[in-house]
Amino acid sequence: MSSEYLPGLAGVPATKSNISSIDGEEGILAYRGYDIMELAEKSTFEETALLLLDGCLPSQSMLDDFDGQLRSERRLKYKIRSIMKNLPTSGHPMEMLQTAVASLGMFYGGEEVLSDGVAGNDLEYIHSMSVKIISRMATIVAMWEHIRNGYDPIEPRDDLSHAANFLYMLKGKEPDEMAVKVMDACFVLHAEHTINASTFAAMVCSSTLASPFLVIAAAIGTLAGPLHGGANQRVVEMLKDIKRPENAKAWLDKQLAGKKVVWGMGHREYKTKDPRAIVLQKLMVEWSEKQGNLSPEFETALRLEEACEEALGPKGVFPNVDYYSGILYKEMGIAPDQFTPIFAVSRVAGWLAHWREQLSDNRIFRPTQIYTGEEVRDYTEMSKR
Ligand code: COA
Repeated sequence: MSSEYLPGLAGVPATKSNISSIDGEEGILAYRGYDIMELAEKSTFEETALLLLDGCLPSQSMLDDFDGQLRSERRLKYKIRSIMKNLPTSGHPMEMLQTAVASLGMFYGGEEVLSDGVAGNDLEYIHSMSVKIISRMATIVAMWEHIRNGYDPIEPRDDLSHAANFLYMLKGKEPDEMAVKVMDACFVLHAEHTINASTFAAMVCSSTLASPFLVIAAAIGTLAGPLHGGANQRVVEMLKDIKRPENAKAWLDKQLAGKKVVWGMGHREYKTKDPRAIVLQKLMVEWSEKQGNLSPEFETALRLEEACEEALGPKGVFPNVDYYSGILYKEMGIAPDQFTPIFAVSRVAGWLAHWREQLSDNRIFRPTQIYTGEEVRDYTEMSKR
């Protein structure tokens, strides 16, 4: 057995998986073998989620069924809303989301399916929990926007797609076609990404046969950090700090001299530009053309990317998914602290696909360590310390 310690488990396979793949040199991400670029253009979140969960592109009737199930599961129990209403509005929405999702588990049974020690055979249970969680997470994030501002939440509508309903509930008015297209593409692009930190957390939690609500709560907590999903919010704050496009180069030099990171840049897997960043940048261009102006943040981001290419390109550090998603969400009028919850609303499809895969061939995760502490020694009495 190898006892080599690799910080961050870089390059260490933690599982066998057939859900998604990354070619970090070529900049290719594929879900179940389908290139993300093509999915972002041709698929919808509903179809992509089903592809991730079941492993194949659905027929029209399978997709219609799944879409109908998602629409019918949008409503939240009033007790969950009461929990949300009692949370401090000053907290981060990721903390609210983790609380609400973990609380959902108290209302829906089924643990017995997982607690017999032979998990993974009840596909009906796995599917119904997946639908409940995917559907309700969008509701929770959108409702929070109104609750935290002191209003009653907007009720979900079942005549709208997942992306359209999410924007409707978030903003309180029906979104236009372009906004729905962008939101849906963002949901597709963020839905899955191999064994990243939050997916790994979900897998570890799944391997203990915890309930799917706790599995997703573990993943939400892990996604929240700025080195993972929290980076998109930081990108917008960083661009605000740079203020103007012409300041980008000087800002970068100062940042790198201080050994600080540029948010939204770099990735453990990609040594070229993240394909999701390429699609998001194109969407940002389309959005700008429709609005008839280039947002100052987007201009600054473009200038900063140019400057980074020279300084960080040789290290294989290029824009990742968070670099352009934050700017796009900001242009859509979404509050920056909701960017990471929106990431979670999409990534939950991938987390649940990994939950199902983990259960189908489960062994509890229990890695080892290289101990660097004291040898076993005698206890020192208080009087002698
Ligand atoms: N800004 C400045 N330098 C960066 C950088 C960034 N965003 N990302 C990586 N680098 C540099 C590192 O300092 C290191 O330089 P060195 O070799 O001179 O020490 C080199 O590039 C390799 O990076 P490393 O830290 O080993 O990569 P990692 O795989 O451990 O970390 C991230 C990956 C994502 C955590 C890292 O790139 C990062 O912190 N990015 C900013 C946060 C972010 O956007 N996260 C979202 C990821 S989707």
